[in-house]
Parts: sequence; structure tokens; C-alpha cells
Amino acid sequence: MAGIAVKELPFPEQFLWGAATAAHQVEGNNRGSDWWAFEQRPGAIWHGDRSGLACDWWCSAEADFDRMAAMGHNTHRLSVEWSRIEPEEGTFDPAAIARYRDMLAGLRRRGIEPMVTLFHFSSPQWLARHGGWRSPAVVGRFRRFARHTVEQLGDLVKLWCTINEPNVYAALGCLLGEHAPGVKSLRHCFQVLSHQLQAHAAAYRVVKALDGSAQVGLVMNTIVFEPLDPANPASVRAASLADYVFHELVFRAIGDGKLRFPLSLGLTAHGPLIDSVDFWGVNYYTRQRVSLRRRFLQPTPGAEVSDCGRSGPYGEIYPQGIYRVLKRVAALRSQGVPIYITENGLPDADDDQRPRYLLTHLAQVQRAIAEGVDVRGYYHWSFTDNFEWAEGWALRFGLIALDETTQVRTPRRSAQLYTGIIRANAITPDLVALYAPEVMSDIFPAPPHSTNVPATQAGIDVRPRP
Ligand code: FCB
Repeated sequence: MAGIAVKELPFPEQFLWGAATAAHQVEGNNRGSDWWAFEQRPGAIWHGDRSGLACDWWCSAEADFDRMAAMGHNTHRLSVEWSRIEPEEGTFDPAAIARYRDMLAGLRRRGIEPMVTLFHFSSPQWLARHGGWRSPAVVGRFRRFARHTVEQLGDLVKLWCTINEPNVYAALGCLLGEHAPGVKSLRHCFQVLSHQLQAHAAAYRVVKALDGSAQVGLVMNTIVFEPLDPANPASVRAASLADYVFHELVFRAIGDGKLRFPLSLGLTAHGPLIDSVDFWGVNYYTRQRVSLRRRFLQPTPGAEVSDCGRSGPYGEIYPQGIYRVLKRVAALRSQGVPIYITENGLPDADDDQRPRYLLTHLAQVQRAIAEGVDVRGYYHWSFTDNFEWAEGWALRFGLIALDETTQVRTPRRSAQLYTGIIRANAITPDLVALYAPEVMSDIFPAPPHSTNVPATQAGIDVRPRP
């Protein structure tokens, strides 16, 4: 008797499949946001690019919604733009709300469940003038914006994300100065992180008070940090410090309400953080090797990397990383809380890596699910190419290629592959054979020849779906 061959890697019924976008990256003419102002600074954006019309979603998102529906997407993650909804402090724009209502209702009509993020990196310019996220007053200001938005849109939204990647906002915007607001200060970085977490908790309570049945989550960027040289104690310590500051600080704060900053920068206690997530949003892209000798962060030497940004390869391609972060998040103190993969993808203009990336990462997601991790949905970053922040238009993350000057869209092969996965609600050998045969043996290991080898010992998980 030969070993048991696995026919396909199935996903749970009701699994949500879609893509993720952010307002400033797709809407176009987002003139009231601090990012619009940041883009005008010489040298801020690679090649001097501007968001401009972006993907023209403010006027015609519906054409892309049609494409999503045709591809079988049953969900979409998008964000609302604070500066459109509240263009002046305390003044709300009914026309902006009307436009978002149209978009959300349009998604629903097409059978696409919206997941809405309240803050995805871009703030109103008036907020920036009042100290931005550094001023403690931002917590009340964000609460007021969240209340208005949820009152106006809540009947159309059941899945809310409060803040996208507070760890990336604080690190890139306030420590490295590469994103708006363009500050380089460790103290500023920690203050902003603390305020974003308080704002998250405030928004969580607001949504729950208005609609107890809504599910509200916090979205974290997750990176697998490992020492470049595991034999070098300094490299090992640096990797664990990077991991602590980037992830653990936040995970623990949501678990016990205490934000413990390293380097004697203090401890703040925020009781309302406890029990402030109904789900975790996990954004996963890559692994980083940490070294104190050469560049602080870099890919594993010799590993496959994706397209290059302005400071080198965007990231190492490391599919096992998504499995590892899912297991880690599932084991947090907030155990039992479901997980959505709110972003995953890579920049790959010619689409020669994306099919493989998609299949190998989804196989690792399926592995985590088969081991009992409660993953409810997957959002690919992104639907079309879009304005990639400080990298401008150079990095191409779309399932669909976009010519931003003509607005012409051209689906990449990965778009067809993703449609195939969604339709099958599984990764099948046929799809792997067609789109990335080189990873067939990784995804579907050959059954062993010996007799009576239990499938689990052979590394194949055949347990029934939860
Ligand atoms: C994430 C951001 C998203 C996009 C991707 C590539 O960190 O949340 O807006 O820029 O990276």
C-alpha cells in the first residue's frame, strides 16, 4: 500500500477571499492629507513620483469592483480617508460620506463583504498642524472621527480595522523619517505608538457601543526577525530587540494593558487596551536578518528576493514565515481571537515570482488552519498596482497591472491563478502544475513508498478541517 496522496489543500467553507487597498494609495487627488503635502517635499518620494490620480477610485472604483466580482472575490479591505470625511477639525463632509456609502453598497451588491480600516497611514493636514499623532489630543480627535464614520457607515460594515500597522507608522514615519510625518526621533516614535494604541482602544469601544455585532480588529505588520549570524550573541540580541519593539511590545500591551518601552524610555499603562480586539489583522510580507556589523536589516544571503525598492530588495521570499506568525499570533494571551490575513504580497512587475509566492504562502496558511489556527480570510496586497508610499510607482504589487498615466488595467497571470484558487476554495495540484510546477514537491510532497507509514509522519497533514 502506498502512502496517502493529498489531493488538494482545502480552505474552510465561508473563507473570505479578496484583496486589500488603502485610501491614499488608490483614491486619487487626496489633497487634504498629510501624505499629499509630504509628496511635495523634494526627495521624499523615489523618482519624485506623486500619487496624483492614483487608481482613480474616488471617481470610478466600481469598475474595479466589477473586476473583483468577476474574479470571485467575496470580500475587499479598503480604508476611509480621515481628511475627506473631516476636512476641517470638527466639520464633516456629507458628500464624502455619500461617496463611501456608494462604494460600500456597491461592494455589497456584488456579494463582496467590505472590511474597512479607519486609519491607514494618512492624516488630515489640519491634524498635522495640531501636533499630529504626537499630541495626546489625537486620541479624542480620532474617537470623534471614528464615531462619526461608524454612525454614518456602520449599517454597511461588519468588519472594522481601527489602525493599520501602528508599528510601521511609528517606525517609518517617526523613527526613520521615510514616511509622513518624516520625523527621526525615538522618543517621538514611542509617543506616537502609544497614542495610536490608545486611539485604537478608543475606536474599538466606539464601534462596539454603536454596533455590538460588528467585529473590530487591530492590524499589525509582522516580520520574522532572525540574527544574520546566529553564533554571534550581539546579532542574536539585536534580532530579539527588533522583534520586541516591532511586535511584542504591542502584543503584550493588548494582552495586559501595559506598554513597556525598552531603553528606560518608560512604561505607560492603558487599561482600555485589554480586550480591545475581536480579531487580529496580520500583514505578512517577509523575513529580515538582523546584524550589527553590516546593514541592520537584510535578506538571508542567497535567498530569493522580490523586486528592488530604493534601498535594495523589498524583501526575502520566505513562505514559512506566514505560518510562523500565524502560530505566534494564535498563541497570544488574546487566544481564541480569530485572525484575518489583512495583507500579503510582493512587488513583482513581471509577475515571474508572484504565482509561486501566492501558492507557497497560501499552502502555509492552509497548514496553520489544518493545525487549528482560526484564520477567517485572506486579503492579497493588492488588487491593482497603486501608489506605494515613499517608493512611489516603482514597486508593483497588483494582481492587475495598472498604467497610472492611462489608467489601463492588464490582469497578470497571478490574477487568473488567484481566481482559480478562489473557485476551488483550495490549492489543487492542477493549479500548481499550471502556474508554478517548480514548487509542486514543496506543496504536495510525493507519498512515501514504504507501507504503513502514517501520513502525519510523512509530513502530510490529512486531518479533517475544523
Ligand atoms: C504595508 C502597507 C500597505 C502597503 C504594503 C506594501 O506595510 O500597509 O499600505 O504599502 O505594505
